[in-house]
Amino acid sequence: MNDAVITAFAKRLRTARHVTVLTGAGISAESGIPTFRDAQTGLWSHFDPEELASPAGFARNPALVWRWYAERRVKACAAQPNPAHYALAELAQRVPQLTLITQNIDGLHQRAGSPDVIELHGSLHRARCMADGSVHTTWDYDEELPLCPDCGALLRPDVVWFGEMLPRVALETAWAATLDCDVFMSIGTSGVVEPAASLPRVALGRDATVLILNLEQTTAARPPLFTINGKAGEVLPQLVAAAFGA
Ligand code: APR
Repeated sequence: MNDAVITAFAKRLRTARHVTVLTGAGISAESGIPTFRDAQTGLWSHFDPEELASPAGFARNPALVWRWYAERRVKACAAQPNPAHYALAELAQRVPQLTLITQNIDGLHQRAGSPDVIELHGSLHRARCMADGSVHTTWDYDEELPLCPDCGALLRPDVVWFGEMLPRVALETAWAATLDCDVFMSIGTSGVVEPAASLPRVALGRDATVLILNLEQTTAARPPLFTINGKAGEVLPQLVAAAFGA
């Protein structure tokens, strides 16, 4: 069943002008990166998510929040990109234009070689100064409360927390790429939070061909909408090989 859909979608991919790809937690699952909620095991299971990932939680206990993100950053650094990440980096070299938008904060797309990744939810690998908003890619990882190297104010993880707006430029770029693309792929995201919920629909409304790839049982779709129920690490390499050769 998936093979026929892969063949048909690959044919469309071959003639694509601009491919826009949206990824979520599912693409990193095969790298062993737990989702936010799945990561809340052991000690962390006792905490309300809002305590660990909200401005109010950070104001109450910044050391606790930093400990949570430090642990997640270490796990992301120890993980490796999987064949799905590599297939998207390869695809970017095969089509005239590819815009990669991710809801993930793990940095695995970049490590697989994808250029210009649009991070809608920020990154575990950046910190931001609470005083002047400056962004830092290294800081004192051993500090319980890391401080801005420029002004000495408290740093916070440069991620989007509950109740916060998505970064404006990233969001605008994501919308523009969705409006412009002729092929849109949604990979490993349940599409329940915005804008992941709307982007595939908007692309369809602009006559783009759309692929939804995740582990959910999906109802049968027909072109221009394609759905595949499968593992990204298996399906994406097959798709790129079917479209452009191994
Ligand atoms: N291959 C493809 N899809 C997969 C795989 C896999 N190996 N494993 C899981 N999935 C799919 C699931 O079927 C599901 O549709 O990935 C999706 C994961 O959904 P979520 O956990 O809701 O992740 P995501 O869509 O990224 O969540 C969006 O919501 O919880 C917040 O901030 C969090 O960034 C997250 C956002």
